[in-house]
Amino acid sequence: MEVLKSKKILQDFIERQKEMGKKIGFAPTMGALHNGHLSLYEQARKENDLVISSIFVNPTQFNNPEDLEKYPRDINRDILILKNSGLVDAVYIPEVVDIYPEKAESKHYDFDGLENEMEGKSRPGHFDGVGTVVEELFVQVKPDNAYFGEKDFQQLAIIKKLAKKNKIPVKIHGVPIYRAENGLALSSRNQRLHEDRKDASKIIFETLKKVNEWFHTITIQEIKDRVQDVFDDQQGMKLEYFLIADEETLKETDFFYKGRSFRAFIVVIVDGVRLIDNMHLD
Ligand code: PAF
Repeated sequence: MEVLKSKKILQDFIERQKEMGKKIGFAPTMGALHNGHLSLYEQARKENDLVISSIFVNPTQFNNPEDLEKYPRDINRDILILKNSGLVDAVYIPEVVDIYPEKAESKHYDFDGLENEMEGKSRPGHFDGVGTVVEELFVQVKPDNAYFGEKDFQQLAIIKKLAKKNKIPVKIHGVPIYRAENGLALSSRNQRLHEDRKDASKIIFETLKKVNEWFHTITIQEIKDRVQDVFDDQQGMKLEYFLIADEETLKETDFFYKGRSFRAFIVVIVDGVRLIDNMHLD
């Protein structure tokens, strides 16, 4: 596996691959790799000649400086995981200046309103930061296919919109949420939780499954009240938001409409760690 530590080294590498006509699959990450990331590479491996990942903790997508500071970083561990997985041909580990040659600042995007819902409300400027780094990585890596986890469903929708509106020639793929045995969605942030809190956090997935059961029998307001009650009873957990939204517009809905697809979205703070999850409602 090649470790590409600057934009120049990456560009030479990409040029050689493109000359050989290789189809490139790309999965950008912020490191602290886990099995959820490996599931992105597995899918990329099946559909491309070459799999590239990147590791870059993007400063512009953190609206909270403490969150940026606390974000887990262990580059040597990550490189070892990638090498041992045998799934990745090259990892790009840029310096801040390779992505932001002048100032680490976001561009401003219009994602047709997707950026104003849910995480956009809770984390102002977050999606401008994500859009800026992902667009720059697409320009540099020139992937044919790119892979993102459905755990960050809104991010996935926004990146699809980014590629479409900016006519970036890349196909965006969503990869199903990878869960621990107890159902907790895998996230780099889980590393900050003690084992007993990880165990207690399975309540998030269990609640989403119940929502899927309740979905045809009671109103959305009743579902929301029940979810609030579940988390009011959990010590050390705070429900930041729970809502049901249209899968395409991501707008919250109070009623179900025939012919539309809906998804439940939830954010819970567990001992100061922000856990996010979602589920398609059948
Ligand atoms: O999902 C992430 O890890 C990040 O938001 C991404 C897409 C790598 C951009 O920094």
